[in-house]
Amino acid sequence: MFKRSKCLLSIVVLVTILAFTSSLNIGQEALGGTSYTVPAKTTVQDIAEEFFDTSDYWPAIMGSTNRKHIEDPSFIRIEDPKVPIEEGAKLWIPSKEWANMFMDIWTPSKPELLFGTRPKGQLVVASWWTAGGEAEGLKALFDIYKNRYPNVEIVNATIAGGAGFNFRAVIKPRLIAGDPPDSFQLHAGLEVEGYSPETYLKPLDDLYLTEGWNKVFPQDLLDLLRYKGHYWGVPANIHRANVLWYDQSIFKDADLNPPKTWDEFFSVAEKLKAKGIVPLVLTNAGGWEAPHAFETMLVSTCGAEKYKGLWNGDVSWTDSCVTRALEIFKKVLGYVNADYSALTWDGAAEYMIANKGAMNIMGDWINGLFMAKNYTDYGWTSVPGAQGIFDALSDTFSFPKQAKNKDNVTAWLAVVGSKEGQIAFNTKKGSIPARTDLTEEEKAQFNPYLRSAMEDFKKDKIVPSVIHGAAAIESWVTDFKDAITMFLVRKDVKATQDALVKAAKSALETMAG
Ligand code: GAL
Repeated sequence: MFKRSKCLLSIVVLVTILAFTSSLNIGQEALGGTSYTVPAKTTVQDIAEEFFDTSDYWPAIMGSTNRKHIEDPSFIRIEDPKVPIEEGAKLWIPSKEWANMFMDIWTPSKPELLFGTRPKGQLVVASWWTAGGEAEGLKALFDIYKNRYPNVEIVNATIAGGAGFNFRAVIKPRLIAGDPPDSFQLHAGLEVEGYSPETYLKPLDDLYLTEGWNKVFPQDLLDLLRYKGHYWGVPANIHRANVLWYDQSIFKDADLNPPKTWDEFFSVAEKLKAKGIVPLVLTNAGGWEAPHAFETMLVSTCGAEKYKGLWNGDVSWTDSCVTRALEIFKKVLGYVNADYSALTWDGAAEYMIANKGAMNIMGDWINGLFMAKNYTDYGWTSVPGAQGIFDALSDTFSFPKQAKNKDNVTAWLAVVGSKEGQIAFNTKKGSIPARTDLTEEEKAQFNPYLRSAMEDFKKDKIVPSVIHGAAAIESWVTDFKDAITMFLVRKDVKATQDALVKAAKSALETMAG
């Protein structure tokens, strides 16, 4: 009985792997393997003998070389395994692991397995990346895709508005109507709940296996990505939300150091204010930027464990660390620019570039914007009181079940998760790669901020961002956002904390089902 179910299970696994491998370039890079230049005219059978001790493994070499050829034409395309291969031809020798997997699914009755499909037609990618840094990062991914698949027309379907609040309102009805874009941006974490993934999205577990992503994404991220036991998106990056950015010249001229505690912050802010400089540039035109700043204050006053506990029900929102965060925020509001409700997050950069504003609390996508604007006079530190805590989020791309160009989506997700894709994208986007297998040389392509963030991610305590979809279901994020919006107007600590307590109660009830 056990044997039979084990056998059935392997058939199911093989069939799913087959479905993927027949149409995409398997992530041989992550699973190991090597390129091989043929030293003298030979046959693929002989090469198989040499590398795998059996000529029977020629299909694994032919299959992997032909898939490599699709993404990189410097590898040859083997049309006929009987025709000898010329000296100097470049082949891909897969790892033993990959070759074994391939030989398990290989059958002469399916010769198409030896080739892999070259995508064509359209690929509609939806995101909210329209600002500086974001747009450049996305373009870098598209460039790789176009290079690999020149026959596919990419449609860049953007819906502007930081953090994706406008975006989700547009994408959801499309998904429900059965007319989704081919792939859309989705934060890792509980945001996916709002898309009813089991109904509308394809689980990507097999793709994670064949691309070797289980081995190259960090465990914290893998845990965040898994919802109801499955992966629903492929991460392009990891962003940090709780960074305090500051203008170096302003600090130098005023002989100030970036603040490490809230007391230091207020003392610095007072001095800057006296000089006619906006101490902290706040933005909130998108309605999420001020709640984002408040989130980072909560991380700071509650600390990593308690902050996490607020979102899983272990810590009550009546806790004094919440009161303290609101009190700090109230005081901070005395040191911000008056026009914040009309400024989107990227507007803060203008203040800093013009030396009119000294500090800004924002996620590190603003590092991408600074790069896009050639602004280099900035420094960074943790939001006061949160040294050693990394408030994290990640942007992924999903695979709607009703996507019209499925082969193209699989190929797109493979690019998003590839090393080449992650380096090209993140050096522009201002985030760090989700992959942990970068060499020192590859890391050197990132700017100093990003190199420091890579180190921080390795050693810091990781907590999930709420405004950027990681920590809470969407209705909770909305209630949280609304409570803080009201706080900006009324500045009422008690009423706001009560609203947050109520929001938590109702969300936790919903989550408990
Ligand atoms: C975040 C997103 C980032 C960045 C930011 C501003 O939610 O994860 O990639 O784009 O919004 O738009």
